[in-house]
Amino acid sequence: MSLMVEAQDLVKQYPGAAEPAVKGVSFGILKGEVFSLLGPNGAGKTTTISMLSTLLAPTRGDAVIAGYTLSKAAAEAKRAIGIVPQDIALYPTLSARENLNFLGADVRAGRRGAKTTRGGTAGDGGPARPRRRPH
Ligand SMILES: Nc1ncnc2c1ncn2[C@@H]1O[C@H](COP(=O)(O)OP(=O)(O)OP(=O)(O)O)[C@@H](O)[C@H]1O
Ligand SMILES: [Mg+2]
Repeated sequence: MSLMVEAQDLVKQYPGAAEPAVKGVSFGILKGEVFSLLGPNGAGKTTTISMLSTLLAPTRGDAVIAGYTLSKAAAEAKRAIGIVPQDIALYPTLSARENLNFLGADVRAGRRGAKTTRGGTAGDGGPARPRRRPH
């Protein structure tokens, strides 16, 4: 089976920090594998994910995402990445559907356009109202 994500001795030294936040992390994730990166607060999880998703340049080391080496082909690697950040990144003034359409349009721009499975795109007839389900 092929590796979809390969972290190769990743190191991140933030400027001014006494020691590196990530000190040589290596691992591989197979295609179809669900992988959890666990650790206490401040262990370097977000820093590692940020390097893998090209948001942060590693101080040392490299990574291969879907066959693309970040130091050589970051743009191609980015097209294979979808990321849900640790902090909520939704727009409170948009409905749930509008948020999905907005984010989907960003990811799929130029491919087939964003559309939720229930139909409708952001701005095609006013905001979709949030539904309340009885329970
Ligand atoms: N932008 C930054 N500049 C300097 N130091 C940082 C920065 N971001 C994180 N750090 C430090 O790097 C270390 C790792 O932080 P990181 O956020 O990667 O850990 P984490 O495992 O995601 O923690 P948490 O479980 O709290 O989300 C911590 O000591 C943190 O204070
Ligand atoms: Mg974190």
